[in-house]
Amino acid sequence: MWREKLYLWNKWRSSWWWSLSETRPNGPKVIDEIVRIEKKIFPKHESLARSFDEELKKRNSGLLFSEVDGDGHVAGYVMYSWPSSLCASITKLAVKENFRGQGYGEELLKAAIEKCRTRRVHRISLHVDPLRTPAMTLYKKLGFRVDNLIEGYYSPDRHAYRMYLDFESN
Ligand SMILES: CC(C)(COP(=O)(O)OP(=O)(O)OC[C@H]1O[C@@H](n2cnc3c(N)ncnc32)[C@H](O)[C@@H]1OP(=O)(O)O)[C@@H](O)C(=O)NCCC(=O)NCCS
Repeated sequence: MWREKLYLWNKWRSSWWWSLSETRPNGPKVIDEIVRIEKKIFPKHESLARSFDEELKKRNSGLLFSEVDGDGHVAGYVMYSWPSSLCASITKLAVKENFRGQGYGEELLKAAIEKCRTRRVHRISLHVDPLRTPAMTLYKKLGFRVDNLIEGYYSPDRHAYRMYLDFESN
């Protein structure tokens, strides 16, 4: 029993995240779980829950998620896109409440940054509500800087910082 648990734990640690473009037997289950997390964490106007399928079909976009077992249970996910060869964006990052503070968010964001880097873009940008302190702190930790405040970005009384990370050379 113990051996089995250790094996699963190691297996999970070594495959920290998956990309949905890889063939995954639990694909539909994973998407359902992500939509559930999305609805729980983000207010309606900020949530991609309704348009998730559309987002996934978009060209030049990617989704990475952490699967915590072999049964489609997800700890967190990150979405990114590269609309042009110059710039990419992080469009969503979320970790389920009971998995926070364990490094998932940072690993997912690092993985998304690496994916964008391989696209040879010069800059990654994102928008974040300044009141989301954990997210702001994480973005700054990984090198993002505040560009400007966009008033009314999410709703009339909810603003966003636009943040960016520049790659020195490609
Ligand atoms: C932001 C979020 C993804 C972080 O995920 P997480 O897995 O808990 O983060 P990690 O455990 O990987 O922590 C990495 C870093 O994030 C920052 N951080 C995480 N939680 C924090 C908190 N409660 N307060 C301040 N900084 C925090 C720290 O810099 C931390 O590094 P450290 O451990 O060296 O201090 C998670 O809090 C979340 O899903 N929040 C709600 C959704 C959201 O705000 N998404 C961003 C929208 S743009």
